[in-house]
Amino acid sequence: MVFTYVSVLLVSGLLSLLVFNMIDLSEASIKKGVGIMFSKQYRCTDESTFNNVHWWYDWHQTPNLMHGYNHCPTTVRSGYVPMVNGKQFERGINISVNSQFLLGFNEPDHKEQANLTAAQASVMWKEVEKHAAGKTLISPAVTDINWLQQFFQYCNNCRVDHVAVHIYKCNAHQIMAYLKQTWDRFHKPIWLTEFACPHTTSAHEQLRLMRELLPLLESAPYVFRYAWFTSRWVFHSHTFVDGSTSLMKENSAELSTLGHYYNNFM
Ligand SMILES: *[C@@H]1O[C@H](CO)[C@@H](O)[C@H](O)[C@H]1NC(C)=O
Ligand SMILES: *[C@@H]1O[C@H](CO)[C@@H](O)[C@H](O)[C@H]1NC(C)=O
Repeated sequence: MVFTYVSVLLVSGLLSLLVFNMIDLSEASIKKGVGIMFSKQYRCTDESTFNNVHWWYDWHQTPNLMHGYNHCPTTVRSGYVPMVNGKQFERGINISVNSQFLLGFNEPDHKEQANLTAAQASVMWKEVEKHAAGKTLISPAVTDINWLQQFFQYCNNCRVDHVAVHIYKCNAHQIMAYLKQTWDRFHKPIWLTEFACPHTTSAHEQLRLMRELLPLLESAPYVFRYAWFTSRWVFHSHTFVDGSTSLMKENSAELSTLGHYYNNFM
């Protein structure tokens, strides 16, 4: 009797898990993700608003800071991928969320970001590796793949399972060509963790890029994951990336037109 009861519980538990997953993410492409930007406009519902987006990240090791600051409930939406950013490296690594993946330093090839030489990063990487046991470890995310090539030269016997790049271009075919070049050079699955059309204030241009590019990203076998930049971006004109890239409406908990397209795609 006890056995039967336990089995019934188990089976019904499994069934409800299945049903839950089906409602939650059945239609979502497994590749599609989003960078959730921590800004003054951030709302606790931002992650869950992307209900047809498989994974997300926030350039940090845990969403605790962002959630704590905004007094959000402690539950974390599924699909979170932590990052050892490189900027706060000296504060230590503590990956407490249960994720299959771990992202490496953010733009070490940019002074305003992780700002590391390939030699510096290769020394630090040994520490990152210690926290990546049992996880797929993704390279530092670069805009210049020559930096990554240097990193591999310095980083003897380093463990890097996948590579990550950022590409800001408005032409889908140029983006795909750069991704193909990245694949040809490293032969590792690629995470395109930031992309958008720069130097434009036109949301229409962003939408045009998305329409052309997303199907190509989905069908390219060497693209493992991708994430648009970004959930919220409030800067207008005279910046490299304008508010037109924002997937959420300014001062609102709702998706922008662009955000609706991105969320609903596949
Ligand atoms: C790591 O983070 C978790 C969750 O935030 C916390 O409970 C734990 O104390 C931290 N460990 C260290 C060594 O800081
Ligand atoms: C970048 O790193 C170099 C060398 O470590 C340092 O001199 C420079 O101040 C850093 N730049 C920024 C913006 O942090």
